[in-house]
This record gives sequence, C-alpha cells and structure tokens, in this order.
Amino acid sequence: MQVRNHKGWIAGRTLALIAALALSSSTAFADAKSKVVILATGGTIAGAGATAANSATYQAAKVPVDKLIAGVPELANVADVRGEQVFQIASESFTNEQLMTLGKRVSALAKQDDVDGIVITHGTDTLEETAFFLNLVVRSEKPVVVVGSMRPGSALSADGMLNLYDAVAVAAAKDARGKGVLVAMNDEIQSGRDVSKAINIRTEAFKSPWGALGMVVEGKSYWFRAPVKRHTTSSEFDIDKIEKLAPVEVAYGYGNMSDAAYRAFDKAGVKAVIHAGTGNGSVAKHIVPALQELRGKGVQVIRSARVTGGGFVLRNAEQPDDKYDWVVAHDLNPQKARILAAVALTATQDSKELQRIFWEY
Ligand code: DGL
Repeated sequence: MQVRNHKGWIAGRTLALIAALALSSSTAFADAKSKVVILATGGTIAGAGATAANSATYQAAKVPVDKLIAGVPELANVADVRGEQVFQIASESFTNEQLMTLGKRVSALAKQDDVDGIVITHGTDTLEETAFFLNLVVRSEKPVVVVGSMRPGSALSADGMLNLYDAVAVAAAKDARGKGVLVAMNDEIQSGRDVSKAINIRTEAFKSPWGALGMVVEGKSYWFRAPVKRHTTSSEFDIDKIEKLAPVEVAYGYGNMSDAAYRAFDKAGVKAVIHAGTGNGSVAKHIVPALQELRGKGVQVIRSARVTGGGFVLRNAEQPDDKYDWVVAHDLNPQKARILAAVALTATQDSKELQRIFWEY
C-alpha cells in the first residue's frame, strides 16, 4: 500500500512538473515576438527622388531591403524581422515567371517553424495582382501581407515607413491568421482578393469594392469583416504543384473597337482571353465572330468588365454565355481575372469547371 501510495505521489508530482514546464514554455512563447520575414521586390516603397519635394517624380526600385528595415527601427518593437531581396523592379515589369519565383519563396518560408508571418514590399502598380495570386496558391494560414507606398521614402510625408510598420504589425498578429493574403496600405487592411489600385497619384490609392477588412492603428489590428471566397488553405491550387502559369491576355472594350487584339492573341498562342467589356461585360456584335473562332480552337473566353468598383458580370444577362460557351469573371476586374485564369488553366481546360472556379474564388 505504502509503496503504491509512494509511487502515486511520484507520478502526481511528475505530472505537475510537466504541466508547469509546459505552461512556462508556452508563456515564454507568448512573450516571444513573432518572427517576420520581409521579402523585397522593389517599387516606390524602395524608390528615391531628387528632392524632398519630388513626391511623384522619382525612380522606383532603388533602396535595398536592409535599408528599408533600418529606416524603420520601430519594426523591432512589433516583431523579430529579417529581410530578403527577391527582386528590385518596378512592378509594372512583373512577369509570370517572377510571380512563380516569389510564390515558391513565400510557400517555402511559410512552411518553416521559425517564420510566423511574411511581408512583401512591392510596387503598387501590380500589387493587387501579386496579392491575389498568392491568395490562390500559398497553402498556409500564416499572415502574408503585401505592402507598397505611393511616395518614395525621400519625399515629404512619405507613406512607406508607416505602411511597412503596419504591414509587419499585421503579419506578426495572431488574429491575422487564416484571413487570406492581406494588403496593408494607408492604415487599412485589405483583402488581397478584393483590393485594387483605384487612384494613381494619392496615398489613399487602394480600394476594395466590398470594403476593407479592417484597420491597423499604432501597430494594432482592428477587424470588421472576414473574406468569404476560397483562399490559401481552402484553395484547390498549390504553388508547389504548379510548373508554369497559362498565357492569358486582356483586351479592353470600347465603342468602335476592332477584333485585332483578339486575332493577335490567337497568333500568340493564348489559352484564354479576358474581355474587359463595357457595362456588364458587353461584347460588340462585330467582335463575336473572332471570339467564336478562338473558342473553336479551345481558347477560353472570359467576360470581365471595364466597369469595376461594386458590381459583377452576370452570366446569360445581355450576353448568351451558355450559347457561346463563355465564362463570366463575376466581380473580378480584368487584371485579377487574368491571374485566376492563368492559375485555373494549369488544372482544367473545361469551361464549366472554370465557371465554378470564378464563382468560388
Ligand atoms: N513603377 C510603379 C511600381 O513599381 C511605381 C508605383 C508604386 O510602387 O507606388 O509599381
């Protein structure tokens, strides 16, 4: 009896010791700062102008990532930060191959236990495309936050430093997990899926037709809604299983447009064309024959709209999508429709499957 009691006492003390150790280590972990990696690609946030008055005249993609980090010492208050220079380019020059390189690096880092969040500094011109692409193919719950600036760091009232501080604070925040790829600009936290550059020369440039997800103020995130479309861990696409994005081009719709762009895309060997149509993605009568020729060759025809900012292209409304076997891009603007088509066509050539994908992502 005595021995059993003695053994019971030892077992009880051992369990208590294990619990205490676990608590202390988890407490210690909770106190440890999040580890955030900043992947720099260029853009205005790395730009430099000749004088402080040059807020719009400058050269993008000049300042290296270590200098960006050194320029905001307060980053160390919100996270343990380190930087990698992936590219040093103006974002209008991004290629599909560079998107793939960036996506694979993000995916690899997200798998590392010593990485809690990732920030990508990026030019604002195509920032929305990169953010949406990563939202589709990076299978991780960890926060991935894309950030840019509208003024170079050399300008009066430069916005890049606070944008970078906000982006790192969001990437370090546990409540940013599982919300898809995010964009931090101008105090707002935007969905990488929804946001686009709506103004080309103001700091409040980025808008989401369905509203921002939240705000970040003095390093703290405040959330007001969450994404409902499939993304990251709920996506069927995986960057680690994609070799090459499909070639997809966009043609802008307007009165008196010709079908020359579509003929040229056909010669270039595209797998899909995005029609940035007038109104609800309308297609001029004299363009339909060219689109039907492309469709007959297996090229997908996807109707988006030049009108954006709070609506969506309705299937079989004014245009007989069923009859022509076309796909509608739903609420995605033409540049985002191109990204989704380029990814989706790595998995299917079926127009009905494509339509499902455009409705679900
Ligand atoms: N050349 C543009 C770009 O790299 C500059 C715009 C910006 O980054 O704000 O996207």
